[in-house]
Amino acid sequence: MSKIIYSGIQPSGVMTLGNYIGAVKNWRLMQDDPDHRCIYMLADLHTITVRQNPQDLHDNAMRFMALCLAMGIDKDRSILYMQSHVHEHCELAWLLNCYTYVGEMNRMTQFKDKSAKHADNINMGLMDYPVLMAADILLFGTHCVPVGIDQVQHVEIARDIATRVNNLYGDVFVVPEGVMTKVGAKIMSLQDPTSKMSKSDPTPNAVVSVLDTPETIVKKFKKAVTDSDTQIAYDPISKPGVSNLLTILAAATDRSVEATAADCRHMRYGDLKLATADAVIEMLRPFRERYDRLIADPAYLHEVAAFGAGRAREIAAPILRRFKQAIGFVLPRAD
Ligand code: TYM
Repeated sequence: MSKIIYSGIQPSGVMTLGNYIGAVKNWRLMQDDPDHRCIYMLADLHTITVRQNPQDLHDNAMRFMALCLAMGIDKDRSILYMQSHVHEHCELAWLLNCYTYVGEMNRMTQFKDKSAKHADNINMGLMDYPVLMAADILLFGTHCVPVGIDQVQHVEIARDIATRVNNLYGDVFVVPEGVMTKVGAKIMSLQDPTSKMSKSDPTPNAVVSVLDTPETIVKKFKKAVTDSDTQIAYDPISKPGVSNLLTILAAATDRSVEATAADCRHMRYGDLKLATADAVIEMLRPFRERYDRLIADPAYLHEVAAFGAGRAREIAAPILRRFKQAIGFVLPRAD
């Protein structure tokens, strides 16, 4: 039986180098395994937990769809769709809410961080975000969820909720596992290498967008914060800046961090920055041209989204139905 691989990305702001290295690259690799059935989703419902400008949200969803395709997500081998096109997500999220405790949600790191950042808009959705994410995952009988480190806590809560439901009603849900890429599960900000590179970081030069021009990429890496000595070595605790550059270089050249650090140990910081920028430019170069072509063809992007949503619903609807039946609801007769 093939393994179901499921993951998602919020189409807000820009897609970052962290998103690509920590997640989307892995999505593409997993799609190449014939034993995998891959389902990838643009989590537009999740984005509105923080206020979004309507035009930006719309345009970003189209951009992220074009980017996923440009990066090699294959609409035929994988299922690629927008979360808001599949209403089963919201329905399952409601049901799962009734099997999730407020205390559990209060303890979520991202909820605490985002509540601090958006103190004027601590809405119910922000708190409920992990339940919607659990619904995303459980709706598809998912075995593996490829994510970066920051999403692991959310996958854990999805496991807890699935186990709780199964203990009450029998085997309703598959209990999923989070999987992380070996190199780059947490790419750090270029300006503050102790915090994650994040789409929403407004600090100039902190974040590399996958659509940045080569000149911009060089400029950002040149300005990257390094450490006070001059030694190149991989040590994320005492040398976070250099370690982040080594991680990015390793990921961009598909090598281990250890081998990369050994090769670079005699370089100066300036050389390491340029080598990393060059490797990133080469890694991203093929995407740019394909992206430009795809984003100019909204009709095609709509077609891909509709095709993906149709296939997603074929899997999601029976799983939702099974859960509703287990709870005891009277199911509507087919006819
Ligand atoms: P999002 O949109 O914040 O990020 C998408 C993916 O990119 C990873 N990521 C990173 N990896 C390495 N370094 C970084 N600096 C970095 N920043 C982000 C994230 O870990 C993630 O894998 N809640 C999710 C979207 C989602 C989802 C799901 C994911 C909704 N439903 C179901 C998996 C399964 C999110 O906000 O990801």
